[in-house]
Amino acid sequence: MNPAPNLVLVGPMGAGKTSIGRQLAKRLGLAFVDCDQLLEERTGAAVPVIFECEGEAGFRQRESALIAELMQGRDQLVATGGGAVLDEANRRALAARGFVVHLQVSVAQQLERLARDRSRPLLAGPDKQARLEGLAAVRGPIYAALADLEFDADGLTVATATERLHARL
Ligand code: S3P
Repeated sequence: MNPAPNLVLVGPMGAGKTSIGRQLAKRLGLAFVDCDQLLEERTGAAVPVIFECEGEAGFRQRESALIAELMQGRDQLVATGGGAVLDEANRRALAARGFVVHLQVSVAQQLERLARDRSRPLLAGPDKQARLEGLAAVRGPIYAALADLEFDADGLTVATATERLHARL
């Protein structure tokens, strides 16, 4: 296992960062932290409500503060939100204190998983496919540049993805 103090999952919405991360953390004996869930616990508000009240900018500020805080710790598996890598300070903190795994997934698979999802404000409204493709075009290269390890989770169950990713660490 890489000597970085934390393991970090990055990648797009619906890649399985939360579900695979939780299982993998168990296997590795790491504390599991999901950034969005922790933000929701601390604010008492769901992510769409934070977006509604504070805008995306307000959400990003909270997300950045949380990442800075978490990256001071160790022995955690941190599942980031899909947009966390947009901020340069976040990228620096994640790279400095984490072994970063990019979970890759196809837009088709994202659509399947997120078709009825109401918890992602960036996917509200029509034409989720175009939105996801636009996000992938911008963010794909950022995930790739940051990653210590690329892992293709497309079409895999949580159990299989966890097993295979574990084997590659
Ligand atoms: C976002 C992804 C979400 C959440 C927020 C914004 C994004 O997290 O942080 O809705 O910008 O891609 P998941 O990647 O866990 O869905």
